[in-house]
Amino acid sequence: MVCLGNICRSPLAHGIFEHLSKDFSITVDSAGTANYHAGNAPDPRSIKTAAAKGINIANQKARQFIAADFVAFDYIFVMDQENLNNVLKLAETESDRKKVRLLLGSDEVEDPYYGGDQGFEIVFDKIEKACKNIIESWNQ
Ligand code: 4NP
Repeated sequence: MVCLGNICRSPLAHGIFEHLSKDFSITVDSAGTANYHAGNAPDPRSIKTAAAKGINIANQKARQFIAADFVAFDYIFVMDQENLNNVLKLAETESDRKKVRLLLGSDEVEDPYYGGDQGFEIVFDKIEKACKNIIESWNQ
């Protein structure tokens, strides 16, 4: 799960996907295309929004997306078009490029960083719906 700072959207996506896929043996992780917040915990608003739904993301630590993530992961879900472009800049092969897609398919999870708490709830709901759809498609 990839966004810009790895403190607002992708930590939510990481926590939600991990929660929904706990019966599968898969590894879920998140990263940001920028390194501004590397080592930091998620934004308190993301932590609070997830906690209200019973998901603990407080122990996550931000890190930057690196080219090695193309080797480590089968799917790379990004939150918006800018993340998509930045991740694709690090892709080296067609197989790398094929792993990357917008989490919402054709829509974006907009950056809630400069807004209020409500933005985080909207982001949570959009991400949760998308994660449920992905897992459902894997179950078929
Ligand atoms: P995120 O949100 O990409 O969802 O983690 C942001 C967090 C921090 C900044 C921008 C977006 N920032 O500019 O510091």
